[in-house]
Amino acid sequence: MQLKTAVILGVAAAAEARKCMDLNVPVSISSRNGVFDYMPAKTEIEATNFFLNLAQQGGNYTDDLLTGYDTIKGDYNLACTYCEPDDGPGEVLQLMTHGIGFDRSYWDLPFNNYNYSYAMEANDKGYSTFTWDRLGIGMSDHGDGVNEIQLFLEVAALQELTRRLQEGQVCGVKHKYEKIAHLGHSFGSAITYNFVNMYPDMSSGAVFTGFSQVPNYIAYFALGGNFVPSDMVAPLKGEYPPGYFAPKSSYGVHVNFFAPHDFDPEVLALAAKKGQPASVGELLTVGAGTAAKNSFAGPVFIITGERDIPFCGGDCTSTMMAGVDAPDLIAVSKPMFAQASSFDYHIVEGAGHGLNLAYSHETTYGKILDFFSSKIN
Ligand SMILES: *[C@@H]1O[C@H](CO)[C@@H](O)[C@H](O)[C@H]1NC(C)=O
Ligand SMILES: *[C@@H]1O[C@H](CO)[C@@H](O)[C@H](O)[C@H]1NC(C)=O
Repeated sequence: MQLKTAVILGVAAAAEARKCMDLNVPVSISSRNGVFDYMPAKTEIEATNFFLNLAQQGGNYTDDLLTGYDTIKGDYNLACTYCEPDDGPGEVLQLMTHGIGFDRSYWDLPFNNYNYSYAMEANDKGYSTFTWDRLGIGMSDHGDGVNEIQLFLEVAALQELTRRLQEGQVCGVKHKYEKIAHLGHSFGSAITYNFVNMYPDMSSGAVFTGFSQVPNYIAYFALGGNFVPSDMVAPLKGEYPPGYFAPKSSYGVHVNFFAPHDFDPEVLALAAKKGQPASVGELLTVGAGTAAKNSFAGPVFIITGERDIPFCGGDCTSTMMAGVDAPDLIAVSKPMFAQASSFDYHIVEGAGHGLNLAYSHETTYGKILDFFSSKIN
């Protein structure tokens, strides 16, 4: 019977050589959140004013709006997808947190017969994978966009997911994973950075994609995104409470995520159509904790597109404008991970911020999986 299965698998498409399950994971979590004095924008003009304030050089709009801190506590449902190789759970589980603009399908895009799926390649290489819609986004529970859905609560959600997966307490995932590595994209990398710093013993390895610790270029993202209240974007109308922003058209998605000549226009159209918003609270806490040195003692890998807009201003290899003393903008992170057992990084030539959606994704996936095979085992 085993043999027969193996033979059939041998001729089946790669896409079938794994088992995947959509899961709903209820969590009870709390965090210390910022309290912001901000009335959610209802019009395009109010939204644009928010982003002009956020982008002001030398300013700190987060501080301008902050009136104090409060503990937020709640029960939330998280929409997740778990996959394992057909021959059973991998030794290592890769837990992935997506960034602004997407949901968990960023890691496992069905487009073009899963050609763009990082998760599928990881499953093919023997890893189990777990992706989740960030708390507040996609099919996970939504919440108050200003004072509830902030980086801090999302870090708490990631911690709870990790703990439960380690203890075999996620319904549908019987295996107890001793080794869980954490991957993030963009804002998901910022969540992951805070998570491994706060709970360094809970992770076997950290991969930050679409990330740097040079804060100078967030304004490009804020102004380039052409953000409006998410209710004004047709596919999102009625989906979110006030306090969420999304790009008005594919223009903002293109500027922030896609580099010239490194993408299929159909993928841009798909990203714009399926795009998810960001909350005010997320945008105001996007830089929280990432200026601090990280206490994580495991292996670290950073991979960012050469032409990344939010984290490199369109060129990760140029340090002149940022005035940093490092060979490039990603190398700036090396001293931030002074405790790490190893620190490696790669700048993907010609790629933009949305690495997984680029033609160059094969390079990106190869580098990440090389990191896994050489540093985590
Ligand atoms: C901006 O203000 C917030 C809230 O006071 C603070 O935590 C953060 O460190 C400030 N950012 C910078 C770059 O000074
Ligand atoms: C995806 O397509 C590219 C270009 O046709 C090809 O080189 C690559 O091997 C494909 N990857 C997968 C996982 O099918």
